[in-house]
Amino acid sequence: MVRVGYATTSRQLDFAGTPLRLFAQADRLAWDPLAVPLDQDRLAWEGMVGLQRDLITPIAAMFVAGEEAVTLDLLPLLRWTAGRGMLEEEIYLTSFLHEEAKHTLFFRRWLDEVAKATGDLSGYMGPSYRRIFLVELPEAMEGVLRDGSPASVARAVVTYSMVVEGIVAETGYHSFRRLLEIQGALPGLLQGVELVARDESRHLAFALHLLSGLISEAPELWAVVEERLQLLGPLALAVPAEQHRWYLARAEAELGQVPEEFRTMIDMVATDIRTHAAAQLERRTAALKRAWVRIASDPESD
Ligand SMILES: [Fe+2]
Ligand SMILES: [Fe+2]
Repeated sequence: MVRVGYATTSRQLDFAGTPLRLFAQADRLAWDPLAVPLDQDRLAWEGMVGLQRDLITPIAAMFVAGEEAVTLDLLPLLRWTAGRGMLEEEIYLTSFLHEEAKHTLFFRRWLDEVAKATGDLSGYMGPSYRRIFLVELPEAMEGVLRDGSPASVARAVVTYSMVVEGIVAETGYHSFRRLLEIQGALPGLLQGVELVARDESRHLAFALHLLSGLISEAPELWAVVEERLQLLGPLALAVPAEQHRWYLARAEAELGQVPEEFRTMIDMVATDIRTHAAAQLERRTAALKRAWVRIASDPESD
């Protein structure tokens, strides 16, 4: 391959645009996953019984695998922006990828140092989770490398950001908060989750920027977005439902019969989490639809 030139020698960079503003924000709000204090978590963990720990470990396991997945699968998007001279977008994606790597380190560190989860954690991934992370995500991202069309990028961004980050991960943070309210103090884990969630809000803002740009160039891409959301939305909503069933089965295996009190608590949390997941799906769809309607009614506005 031969290059014909560079963005920086042929034009000014858009420092005020979304990608470089998010890049500056990422620098300003940078945090160290190895420095989040975990001493109190270790103490609290030692005081918990097996069933209490089993409320937390599966979500931590799903988080660490999910963060690894998004670290592994973002590269096609960097390659695509680089190939189109979208330097500002590519620069932002470097901090995006760096952050996903940090999130992976944080959750793995917590599992090592607090939960001492040295065994195989893959059993915590339910069928819908597996389908999203092991099949739909890598395939959609690889489609960008293989194809590179705007439709392939729209499919990839909806999968990666709207569904994985915007619904599955968002719902995961919510589960964590709810369960940690019940379990009491795991302050290091909670702090880490809040820091991760802050980074993720930038990732979503970027995804919306990218998708709006694509749709403004080709409004018919909205059909691709809708089709993808229709396919993956129900799978994303099934993740917390499968988790709920796992909790009940685990309690039954441990106690013989699930105590009414435990069942009521788990059912309450599950209902809350399902409602949250459905609201996230609605929120992501509405945000995209607003962008599409704005673009479709005034194509010059973006
Ligand atoms: Fe992440
Ligand atoms: Fe992310």
